[in-house]
Amino acid sequence: MENRPAPSVSSDRVRPTTVIGGAELFAGLFDMDAQAAIVSDLRAVVAAAPLFSPLTPWGKPMSVRMTSAGKYGWFSDRNGYRYSEHHPDGQSWPPIPARILALWHRLVSDERDPDCCLVNFYGEGARMGLHQDRDEADFRWPVLSVSLGDDARFRIGGTVRGGKTESVWLRSGDVLVLGGAARLAYHGIDRIAPGTSTLLPKGGRINLTLRVVD
Ligand code: SIN
Ligand code: FE2
Repeated sequence: MENRPAPSVSSDRVRPTTVIGGAELFAGLFDMDAQAAIVSDLRAVVAAAPLFSPLTPWGKPMSVRMTSAGKYGWFSDRNGYRYSEHHPDGQSWPPIPARILALWHRLVSDERDPDCCLVNFYGEGARMGLHQDRDEADFRWPVLSVSLGDDARFRIGGTVRGGKTESVWLRSGDVLVLGGAARLAYHGIDRIAPGTSTLLPKGGRINLTLRVVD
């Protein structure tokens, strides 16, 4: 790890609209057309690698359904949380769509691509408890998150469980970068607000997170 070059930040970087809990929020970065184009890319991802409900290590299905694109996908079952090179059906994950890689290049770096694009789908009532993203090898790389569809109440705290938290509504087209001091911040989704977006014909919310894994 010491021999690796430090991640470089793209020079033509757009500026965040807000900083929340140390995470940079780029509100409304994608307009409706761009959001619809990403959703159509994701339809192909989900057709190749169907959404599934991971089990928590204590055996309960998560309310969020997931799939991934890239070299690795995120996976969980009774054996714990981990990245896997295979969808639970056995096949490799589909490639990360070019439009999504372009966002990484724009906001993070051209130096390398992310290894994983985790796709989370939140139907009505789905939530994600406070957690840290810590299954990756090098925390110098940020996690970049894209919100599509219904609004979601996002909560972020510090790097210890049980500390003070702040929350913000993430809306369709918003992008959040968890990097630097916020890379290991506890974060989660309290709830979504059904019917607040017309992007997805059947409603719900999609969240994408781009991660460097190795
Ligand atoms: C996550 O932490 O993996 C998802 C966050 C979100 O849905 O915005
Ligand atoms: Fe996370």
